Amino acid sequence: MAVADQAFVTLGSDDDYCQGALVLGQSLRNHVTSRKLAILITPQVSSVMRAVLCSVFDEVIEVDEIYSADSMHLSLLERPELSVTFTKLHCWTLTQYSKCVFMDADTLVLCNIDELFEREELSAAPDSGWPDCFNSGVFVFRPSLQTYNNLLQFATEHGSFDGGDQGLLNSFFSNWATTDIGKHLPFIYNLSSSAIYTYVPAFKHFGRDAKVVHFLGSTKPWHYTYNPQTRTIMHDGATSGSPNQFSFLQLWWKIYYANILPLLEKCQEMANSESQGQKHVFYDDEIRLKNETPLVINSLQIPTFLEQTSEMDITASAPEEFDNKITPVVPQVEQRSSEVRLPEPNQPLEQPVFHPAPQQTLKLDETAHHISELSIQLKPEAPNAEDERKKWEEGHIDYMGKDAFEHIKRKLDTFLK
Ligand code: UDP
Ligand code: GLC
Ligand code: MN
Repeated sequence: MAVADQAFVTLGSDDDYCQGALVLGQSLRNHVTSRKLAILITPQVSSVMRAVLCSVFDEVIEVDEIYSADSMHLSLLERPELSVTFTKLHCWTLTQYSKCVFMDADTLVLCNIDELFEREELSAAPDSGWPDCFNSGVFVFRPSLQTYNNLLQFATEHGSFDGGDQGLLNSFFSNWATTDIGKHLPFIYNLSSSAIYTYVPAFKHFGRDAKVVHFLGSTKPWHYTYNPQTRTIMHDGATSGSPNQFSFLQLWWKIYYANILPLLEKCQEMANSESQGQKHVFYDDEIRLKNETPLVINSLQIPTFLEQTSEMDITASAPEEFDNKITPVVPQVEQRSSEVRLPEPNQPLEQPVFHPAPQQTLKLDETAHHISELSIQLKPEAPNAEDERKKWEEGHIDYMGKDAFEHIKRKLDTFLK
């Protein structure tokens, strides 16, 4: 049964991290979560990406960045880019929900984890680097403006010992380690990929029960390239990790390639044709996934394919059952998943420190509007619908005749009435 007042929440401050968020969202859908999916994004996220996010998440919420601007501690962590993780604090402003589970954009669920909502704030799993701290990549929380303001106040007064949200949250929820064991999530709810090779026997023994994998560290799944023909995953770094780690990576790419990439490409294509002044009219079945399931990109409605669990993904969730056709790392020039021709995110804004703004639910821009509204309606009518559709797809459009704008408009008007 759907639970409308609870949500999984993630964060994507740029198009790269949003690709991770999309795979996470898709993995939650594959395992048929009964909770809402929400994502916090920042102004840098492109309009194409926003349109795609709307097809996976129930809510896409734009917030302003919050930076810790603590380069000193971040350099100790060797992760200067994590200053922006203070933006995570916005999740406490989502008071339309009574309880949420925050998940980093670099996490992936391997089975249904809705039982996490039985836990209380602040529940989280130990950090593999310092187990008396919790890892802030997965945590249960209760949205509250009071808590949000207290966190900002605390940050202003004490900062964060690691320069990111994890240091801050551990100092704020400082009794996590000692007070209530119920708030210690088992490690299998946040299995950091590094633990897979730092404690191989434990992974061999317990790894089959993993529920969430976390690609913690500076190399993320979207930094690799995937060759669908050979099913190889490559990165130009020197280390390849263990085959087990690569099984998770392979699963990430399987979802990305089958479900996310087609959406990104379609939306990019549509944005391109819009920018060339061509009106591109979409059919509800025009965007198809590999398994030929029809998809409607619509921010208000979860596309049907997302509710259908891919058997492939479920059977693949136990590491042993993965096929390990992964070729160890081969150095190569191309690092990013460059097949996705997303526009470069805007230049970073001048970094504000603690400038939280009230959240605003995303208003779709022209492109997204176009997708969500027109896609539903403009399907040729029977009896030759299939032939007609093919003609459209091949670009044989009868602009002056039956496909003339006034006819389309008439259909739209009929629908809107
Ligand atoms: N994040 C983001 N943009 C960034 C860095 C981080 O949106 O430039 C968000 C994203 O949700 C990410 C989380 O903050 O998963 C924490 O960062 P990351 O996962 O890179 O940290 P790690 O888990 O590797 O320490
Ligand atoms: C950790 C967490 C991540 C957090 C970062 C900065 O490694 O995995 O979620 O954003 O530290 O504090
Ligand atoms: Mn992470």
